[in-house]
Amino acid sequence: MDLFSPVALGDLQLANRVVMAPLTRMRSGASGVPGDLVVEHYEQRAGVGLIITEGTYPNHESQAFVGQPGIVTEEQVEGWRRVASAVHERGGTIVMQVMHGGRVTHPDTNGGRRVVAPSAIAIDGQTRTSTGKQPYPMPHALAADEAHATLQDFVDASRRAVEAGLDGVEIHGANGYLLHEFLSPASNVRTDEYGGTPENRARFVVEVVTAVAEAIGAGRVGLRISPEHNIQDALETDRDDVLATYGALVDQLQPLGLAYLSVLHSEPGGDLVQELRRRFGGHLIANSGFGGVTTREEAVQLIESAHADAVAVGRAVIANPDLVERWAGEHPENEPNAATFYAAGAEGYTDYPFLAAG
Ligand SMILES: Cc1cc2nc3c(=O)[nH]c(=O)nc-3n(C[C@H](O)[C@H](O)[C@H](O)COP(=O)(O)O)c2cc1C
Repeated sequence: MDLFSPVALGDLQLANRVVMAPLTRMRSGASGVPGDLVVEHYEQRAGVGLIITEGTYPNHESQAFVGQPGIVTEEQVEGWRRVASAVHERGGTIVMQVMHGGRVTHPDTNGGRRVVAPSAIAIDGQTRTSTGKQPYPMPHALAADEAHATLQDFVDASRRAVEAGLDGVEIHGANGYLLHEFLSPASNVRTDEYGGTPENRARFVVEVVTAVAEAIGAGRVGLRISPEHNIQDALETDRDDVLATYGALVDQLQPLGLAYLSVLHSEPGGDLVQELRRRFGGHLIANSGFGGVTTREEAVQLIESAHADAVAVGRAVIANPDLVERWAGEHPENEPNAATFYAAGAEGYTDYPFLAAG
């Protein structure tokens, strides 16, 4: 297979297999409304096969970062409508990553609201809030009925994303946020049907994804996971437990016919990811994580070896709005500047140069 060939992931039509990975950039202000700058940023990158937006909060208490966009208010929906239509006008395809931050936040970030998680276990460390760095707070353990209300917030947010004109949603089950907190035995010590055994820890993610798929159509829904990523204290250090937990998850997702499974793992071609892919039975988007920036060579190799159907590319897409053109023509690339990843304004966001015309 060729990285530059088209592919259909469920209802999503991709012109090529280079996917813009979800990338939090914190440029949506206090209102969480994507404005002109955000519209321009995504519009510039519409040449990738699929844009997955930055993690976007489905309810106010789930906001994890200052300046993160939401999909809660009418103004936020209207902001995303402008993003989606700009991307579509340039022939692109775009889904929203719906991200509940779980315990990876603070009342000074989420508007003074409660901080929730599967269990009352705080992350050991500090978080950047609107009032500076502070220790992570002790989260409130969601009661079962509160978990069901949170599930409904994922469904309502996904409906609003589609209403705003996005082509679908990616449910964020990776990187130590709420859904990943349910999966990990380090952050989930519940004794009800959502904790204990691997099957129980997988249950909430299965329920959320199933409910979202029922609401907007499975062909528009993807899920991102990051087994063994060991980030933000969502530790998964026992391979047998990891396989049992994520195996239970993908076995139950298989009959739904989702658009894709996106996996962040340091060895996308290794046994774990390839077994999960086989049991999931659908398309795989791969990303090898933060260790090294995804290169053209790595992306080509993942597709040519048939280890993935598409490749999520993060930092290279930040730095190169026309990355597909550069990779296809083997042109030189701009280097990403990490200092502006989470900064404000156009610098390091919309001002990376395109290839010179002609
Ligand atoms: C600035 C930045 C923001 C990120 N934000 C998100 C996010 O919102 N959701 C997510 O699932 N992953 C996020 N990631 C992880 C990326 O999607 C990707 O997996 C990571 O950058 C590794 O890929 P790369 O080597 O191609 O950059 C982020 C990474 C970076 C560098």
